[in-house]
Amino acid sequence: MCGIVGYVGKQQAVPIILEGLKRLEYRGYDSAGVCVQNGRKLKVEKKAGRVDNLAKKIARHHLTGTTGIGHTRWATHGGVTDANAHPHLSSDGKFALVHNGVIENFAQIKAFLARKGYTFRSETDTEVLCNLIAYHFAKEPAVKGQSRFLESVRKTLRHVEGTYGIAALCVDFPEEIVAARKASPLILGVGDNEYIIASDASALVSHTQNVVYLKDGELVHLTPSAFTLSTLDQADVSPVVDTITWSVTDADKGKYPHFMLKEIFEQPAALENAMRGRFAADGSTANFGGLNITPAEFATMERFMFCACGTAWHACLVTEHLIERFARIPVEVDYASEFRYRNSPLDPRTLFFVISQSGETIDTLAALREAKRKGHRVMAINNVVGSSIAREADGGIYQHVGPEIGVASTKAFTSQLLIGAMVALYVARMRDMSFSDGVQYVNALKSAPDLVRQALKLAPRIKAIAKRYAKFHDMLFLGRLSLFPIALEGALKLKEISYLHAEGYPAAEMKHGPIALISKKCPTVFFAPSGELFNKLVSSMQEIKALKGPIIAIVTAGAKLPKGLADEVITLPDCHEAVLPIIASIPVQLLSYYIAVERGCDVDKPRNLAKSVTVE
Ligand code: M6R
Repeated sequence: MCGIVGYVGKQQAVPIILEGLKRLEYRGYDSAGVCVQNGRKLKVEKKAGRVDNLAKKIARHHLTGTTGIGHTRWATHGGVTDANAHPHLSSDGKFALVHNGVIENFAQIKAFLARKGYTFRSETDTEVLCNLIAYHFAKEPAVKGQSRFLESVRKTLRHVEGTYGIAALCVDFPEEIVAARKASPLILGVGDNEYIIASDASALVSHTQNVVYLKDGELVHLTPSAFTLSTLDQADVSPVVDTITWSVTDADKGKYPHFMLKEIFEQPAALENAMRGRFAADGSTANFGGLNITPAEFATMERFMFCACGTAWHACLVTEHLIERFARIPVEVDYASEFRYRNSPLDPRTLFFVISQSGETIDTLAALREAKRKGHRVMAINNVVGSSIAREADGGIYQHVGPEIGVASTKAFTSQLLIGAMVALYVARMRDMSFSDGVQYVNALKSAPDLVRQALKLAPRIKAIAKRYAKFHDMLFLGRLSLFPIALEGALKLKEISYLHAEGYPAAEMKHGPIALISKKCPTVFFAPSGELFNKLVSSMQEIKALKGPIIAIVTAGAKLPKGLADEVITLPDCHEAVLPIIASIPVQLLSYYIAVERGCDVDKPRNLAKSVTVE
């Protein structure tokens, strides 16, 4: 994944593009570049490394111009070098292009263009695409009332296979940008005699909150005074201008050193936003506006299938537990990347759900399409309004937690858990759950933000624990039932931001293999809430203790551990089963955050990772 920004208007383009690229850095940060149209010239500056490197380089040169494009890269084709950084110029110097996506047939196109005399300075598919635009432009006749620039981009895109979000400049058309998308997000910010095109709203929200979400197969032609939307088939499209409901401060770190910490502390408010207006007037069930399926139709469903990737997949597992436990409907969970190729037989009365924060994860999108192809209705639990998944799903539930910038998902995850718990309630109340149990469940969900606030007060204590455990190289996370997925999530969080080896297991599986890892060098984070399995959990902890394994126990107030059993005890408030996974996520998020900081890791931009994975 990469981030692209383009500006056309009356202001200097470079500062606006650089600000946008900084905000898009979570999408890729191995190299960055800009190109401005300066009179009859395209001026490019690009550099391997972060956007700050590029900004320093640009500060030494004067890069003026009121039309420009920029890019922050996540390498897919070609190594991390200045030459492979975007923007790319066509070999005749007429076009500059930034691109997010992968052109699958680039090798054939490159061979074709090479035969025609085009040359290449980089190993990227983007440079090939840029030269193909130049090739079509050279052949494109000037037709009155048509933009030759736009038509050559359109013609080019008809020949490419793969995915793209692109923005192009042409030396012969100062003050114009042509942009287009297919399976890579692109949003147009509509200002006052200025336009910004970007991969994500965070890059433009400080300039305008009026946006147009481009659809797959659409092109936009921008000048400072107007824009037109059209399709690959040259059909005009009437734009729908939406308003972004969050502001630029939501996409800033504020007083926090990292987005991840900010987002961890935003969770009480995020949960309140995720459930606002979603309980029935009688206070006994949930209410969803966007499902596009009637309660009667919903009630005929005999099975649910949930697909997602990474952290969102863990949210599916918790939701499975709650739906089966409270609604007594069988649920299947699959990795989206597996489901899309598995050709799994699905009963017609299966309701299909995908969960995705970004709504752009390519595997999840492909799973959604596969389910629709098989005739299933697909519901999406998704955070980013207007994302590909939100648009292609038949119905869905927005998470409403605002932008999540930290690569490690936190507030999006707990809001997915909350929405999953609400779906379980909704279905349970259609079936056997009584009115009074429903009221109790609703009240429990309503208490979640306050319980999270209480859990967040443990931050100083967890920070102190993290200091003691940051030197270890391996860690186990164990939990049972709905806390098994939270053990998986704790291990994933630790791995992705602190590069420690960590694994999550159901606690009772320990004796089937992972116990071999236990030693004084391998601590275990052990979820031991009060409840019917508590004594079994204590026995497992005793085995770990006997093998001299350090234990960080995460318990609830009602769970009384034998004295001295755990090396560290983190006590959470007691709560309803539907809320427990949400509350239990807080200490593992904080623990991984503080361990990563202690180890000097770049928490918001962990190595080798991007916020959303839009290539296979
Ligand atoms: O945007 P999505 O929820 O579809 O993303 C899915 C995963 O890529 C994502 O959850 C990933 O595992 C996160 N980095 C976890 O923190």
